[in-house]
Amino acid sequence: MSRYWSEAIRNIEPYVPGEQPKDRKYIKLNTNENPYPPSPRAIEAIRNAAGESLRLYPDPTGKELREAIARHCRLHKNNVFVGNGSDELLAFSFPAFFETAGKPILFAEVTYSFYPVYAALFNINYRLIPVDEEFTVFEEGYRQDNSGIIIANPNAPSGKGVSASAIESILSNNKNSVVILDEAYVDFGGETSVPLISDYPNLLVIKTFSKSHSLAGLRVGYALGSEELTGGLIRVKDSFNSYTVDRLALAGALEAINDDAYFQETRSRIIKSRERVSARLMEMGFTVIPSQANFIFMSSNRFHGSYLFGRLREEGILVRHFNKPKVDNFIRVTIGTDEEMDLFLEAIEAVTGE
Ligand SMILES: Cc1ncc(COP(=O)(O)O)c(C=O)c1O
Repeated sequence: MSRYWSEAIRNIEPYVPGEQPKDRKYIKLNTNENPYPPSPRAIEAIRNAAGESLRLYPDPTGKELREAIARHCRLHKNNVFVGNGSDELLAFSFPAFFETAGKPILFAEVTYSFYPVYAALFNINYRLIPVDEEFTVFEEGYRQDNSGIIIANPNAPSGKGVSASAIESILSNNKNSVVILDEAYVDFGGETSVPLISDYPNLLVIKTFSKSHSLAGLRVGYALGSEELTGGLIRVKDSFNSYTVDRLALAGALEAINDDAYFQETRSRIIKSRERVSARLMEMGFTVIPSQANFIFMSSNRFHGSYLFGRLREEGILVRHFNKPKVDNFIRVTIGTDEEMDLFLEAIEAVTGE
């Protein structure tokens, strides 16, 4: 705590990212990174971009990348906004679409823990909408007065998808507020709501290159929505930092989205590994929430989540544990390569004596 900090920053409880320890070599299953390398075409493009042109600012609008994303999603480039990771797009959305000290925005009581942090940073009221013990998001909770809604689909940290009927009903009951669908993990088996954009000018879908394109280190995300919404994001960006996506990131992301064959192959490998590991864990008696993401959320009725987390760490395997009500008995395990998941299963057997 410093006397030089503003009151807002003194009072905020910042998001805590998953650890990236250097003390020994761990199998890293704690931050939902992709275990496979990025597309070789993307790496080559980044190498080619790392030259003399770096003396110049990047295109502040990211036009070429937006055009490629638009083609991929069957939208117009003006329906696409690119940013420095989807976290930045979420951060920009708060001042762009939600009112300070107005009616609350709504999000699930168990969801991505960055949402309440942005709400605190931008002084936005929020209300938590209950989920059941399987972390299901029900549309009924979103039928109350609000100034905005954020839903992660699939949800985090559960990995559970939100049904298409729930999403349509949330959208049609909230035409006067912006509904943000955070689809960071949708490529691993969820159902995207991008086709609904033409019917709902209040829908903003946020996606990322960090997970299904293996580019967490590059920091690129994109938001898809009506021009009214992308226009709002442009206003925030140009009031903050005009060049949020650098030349290397623009070049790498462009090749990543164009290399569809590589994307399809790596994501289906992850889906296959997830299904295999989930089935094995259930055989061993664990509760595994059905996942449509690149991670699983699991618990045991014999060992507490914090115990599993600590013992796996001793075995050289990092997973994520959230010390919060409703989720503290669970661990979140990112899907790694098949070899890594075999070592994870062996470690689980050793830890639980199965
Ligand atoms: C639900 C959700 N949304 C957004 C993000 C942010 O992703 P990035 O900023 O890397 O695009 C994450 C990262 O873990 C996430 O879990």
